[in-house]
Amino acid sequence: MKLLGKPSSQTTALLSVCWFFLKILQPVHSYLYDNRYSGDKVIRLTPKTEEEAYALKKIYHNLQIQCWMHHLNKTRSDLIQMFSIGKSYEGRALFILKLGRKSQAYKRAVWMDCGIHAREWIGPAFCQWFVREALLTYRSDPAMRKLLNHLYFYIMPVFNVDGYHFSWTHDRFWRKTRSRSPGIHCRGVDANRNWKVKWCGEGASGHPCDDTYCGPFPESEPEVKAVAKFLRKHRKHIKAYLSFHAYAQMLLYPYSYKHATIPNFGCVESAAHKAVKALRSVHGVRYKYGPASSTLYVSSGSSMDWAYKTGIPYAFAFELRDTGHFGFLLPEMLIRPTCTETMLAVKNITMHLLKKCPKECRRDNSATKQNWAKSHIAEVEIMF
Ligand SMILES: *[C@@H]1O[C@H](CO)[C@@H](O)[C@H](O)[C@H]1NC(C)=O
Ligand SMILES: *[C@@H]1O[C@H](CO)[C@@H](O)[C@H](O)[C@H]1NC(C)=O
Ligand SMILES: [Zn+2]
Repeated sequence: MKLLGKPSSQTTALLSVCWFFLKILQPVHSYLYDNRYSGDKVIRLTPKTEEEAYALKKIYHNLQIQCWMHHLNKTRSDLIQMFSIGKSYEGRALFILKLGRKSQAYKRAVWMDCGIHAREWIGPAFCQWFVREALLTYRSDPAMRKLLNHLYFYIMPVFNVDGYHFSWTHDRFWRKTRSRSPGIHCRGVDANRNWKVKWCGEGASGHPCDDTYCGPFPESEPEVKAVAKFLRKHRKHIKAYLSFHAYAQMLLYPYSYKHATIPNFGCVESAAHKAVKALRSVHGVRYKYGPASSTLYVSSGSSMDWAYKTGIPYAFAFELRDTGHFGFLLPEMLIRPTCTETMLAVKNITMHLLKKCPKECRRDNSATKQNWAKSHIAEVEIMF
C-alpha cells in the first residue's frame, strides 16, 4: 500500500488507502496521477488467510466509489466539487458531484441520479462513467466543453447507498432502502414510490414486505427527503432531471402515475426521439420511448413525476440494458458499450438546454399553467 510521506491526519490516512484501491482497481485512471506520489513508500498487503482476504474485499466495497469522489474533489477542483446533502438511514453520507466549469454567471443545471434501486448496478457504473468521460474529453470534444462551460451537472452516483451496499454484501437482488418501521419485520421502502406525487396510488404497495412498498408517508426515507429538499431549493435553474434504472432499454418521461399527456409533450417527445436515435447509432441497440405509464407500467410516487411536478421541464428515466436476458446481472463486458451509448443519449438531451428554451417547452410559463389548470382541473389537489 502506498502511504503519503507524513500522514498527519485521519483524512490523509483514508486518502492513502483510497489511493491504493484506486491504483489497483481502476488502472484506466492511472495516467492522471503520474508522478503525483513519487518518493512514497510502497507497502504490499498480501492476505494470508481467507478471513484477511474477505476483510480486504469488504474495505474495498465500502471505499471504492467514495474514494474516487474524494480523489476527484482534490485533483480536479477546476471542474468538480463534491458535497454531501445529508445522511442515509444507516448514516452514510449522501454525496453529490457538481460538475462544470465554475462561473459567476447564471448557469442552468442538470440533475442526474443513479442507483435509486439497489440491484440495478449498471446505474452507478454509468454515473461514474459519465463523470470520467466528461473529464477526459473536456479538452478534446467541443460538445463536452460546451456542456461543461454552460451547464452544471449535479450527479448523485449512488442514491440508495444503504441498499446498494446491502446488495453487494448480502442480497444481490435487493431493491429497496434499508429503513425499519416499528413493529414490522420487513425492512426497506421503494425509494421510487416514496415521492409526494399521487403517493401510494396505483403501481405502489402499502405492504411493507412488498418490493414496491411506498413507505409510511411521502419522503419518509431520508435519502428521498434530502434529494427532494435539494431539488426544491434549486428548481429554478435545474432544467433537466435524469434518473438511471435498469433494465428494459427504455427512455421514459412523465407521467408514470396516469395515462395523460404532459403540457410540453412536443418538446419532451422530440428530445426523447433524438436521444434514442443517437443511442442506437453507437451499437445499434434499440430503445423504446414514451410516457412511462403506457411504455412501462403505471406507478405512483416516482421521482420523475415529482421532478416534473416541481417545475423541471425535462424529466426522464432511463431503463438501461438489457431486455431481460441477463437482467440485473449485466456482465462486465457489456458495461462499457452500455455506458458509451447512454453517454451519447445524455449528451444529446442536455445539448437542448444550451439553446434558448422555446416558450412552449417551458414548464413554468403562465400560458402553460393556464392550459394545465384547464385540462387537469381534476387533479389540482394532487399536483399542487
Ligand atoms: C471538496 O474540496 C473542497 C475544497 O478543497 C473542500 O472544502 C470540501 O470539503 C471537499 N468536499 C468533501 C466532501 O470532502
Ligand atoms: C441528437 O441526435 C440526433 C439524432 O441522431 C442528431 O440528428 C442530432 O444532431 C443530435 N444532436 C446533438 C446536439 O448531438
Ligand atoms: Zn429501478
